[in-house]
Amino acid sequence: MTRYAKIIGTGSALPAKALSNGDMVALLATKGIETSDEWIVERTGIRNRHFIEDGQYASDLAFAACESALGAAACKIADIDLIIVATSTPDMVFPSTATILQRKLSEAAVARGEPSGAGSAAFDVQAVCSGFIYGLTVADAMIKVGSARRALVVGAEVFSRILDFNDRTTCVLFGDGAGAVVLEACEHEGQGPGILSTDIHADGKYTPILCVPGWVAGGQVTGDPTLKMDGQAVFKLAVGVLEDAAKTALARAGMSTQDIDWLIPHQANIRIMQGTARKLKLPLSKVVVTVDQHGNTSAASIPLALDHAVKQGQVQPGQTLLLEGVGGGFTWGAVVVRM
Ligand code: UT7
Repeated sequence: MTRYAKIIGTGSALPAKALSNGDMVALLATKGIETSDEWIVERTGIRNRHFIEDGQYASDLAFAACESALGAAACKIADIDLIIVATSTPDMVFPSTATILQRKLSEAAVARGEPSGAGSAAFDVQAVCSGFIYGLTVADAMIKVGSARRALVVGAEVFSRILDFNDRTTCVLFGDGAGAVVLEACEHEGQGPGILSTDIHADGKYTPILCVPGWVAGGQVTGDPTLKMDGQAVFKLAVGVLEDAAKTALARAGMSTQDIDWLIPHQANIRIMQGTARKLKLPLSKVVVTVDQHGNTSAASIPLALDHAVKQGQVQPGQTLLLEGVGGGFTWGAVVVRM
């Protein structure tokens, strides 16, 4: 018998405020900056994104995504012994967004007359747009060795808070959102259902091509606290490393691309997704695409796309998914999972 971490529920959440490309054109025009729906659609595939309201945080989106995932899994927060939040836009410097999320889930449970669920392990993973892949990898390992039985793995981001709205090369690309999965330990013969393989990497020498260089020190923000990206350098690197990670994860699972029902890549740019699918010889009909609706939501993009595909009836029980992420650090990785 082999022990697996099986996805037993998915959920997601988006802020109510949606901005079309037309809204971004109008917003940038107030600063004397030109952009267009045509440029954004042609270069990225993005048509829409959501921005969070003032006074709301990543943990609020994570909370809504987790309540939905727990409902889909028919679980309560007291059934969860591990919470991992992947985020680069945490609520606070500390404590982790995962512990804030745990408190919010716990308070909601107690208000419903359920046990609080306090006491589970809870921590954040910081791997930018690869964060959900890193989070799944850590949760899978902890479940396999028996240190967790049921885990919430969440990607939650409020990138609208770290965008420079005077920089048209970045501010039109990103959006806010959250996605979550509930993982449960199960034991059976053969391959899955559950996470079949993982592969994660980082190369710190690429820090300058995608970063938010500022920080808080001495009571002040030091450096620039907005996102900086060399889009072309990131683009070129992304397509190469995504191919490598996908091939390694597939080889570890003893599979080839023919065994994959759905590729769910990080949703940054439709052209990166098309390039990756082409390199893996996967038809575009097997790629889940939500970048048009959500923009790039960093660590939230893969679980948001997964939940969307589950809700749309695209992803079905028994199917095999290849998830892959790439982002600041530089970080990248892939996960093969059977539903
Ligand atoms: O989530 C982490 C991973 N991130 C990514 O994967 C992002 C990777 N990079 C990309 O997706 C693309 O490189 C971008 C979408 C960021 C940019 O697309 P591109 O095709 O590489 O465009 P570019 O940077 O070469 O810019 C082409 C032109 C430039 O004008 P000139 O110099 O040719 O006159 C830019 O100034 O497009 C101009 N431009 C814009 N025009 C209208 C840049 N941004 C805009 C804009 N509206 N928003």
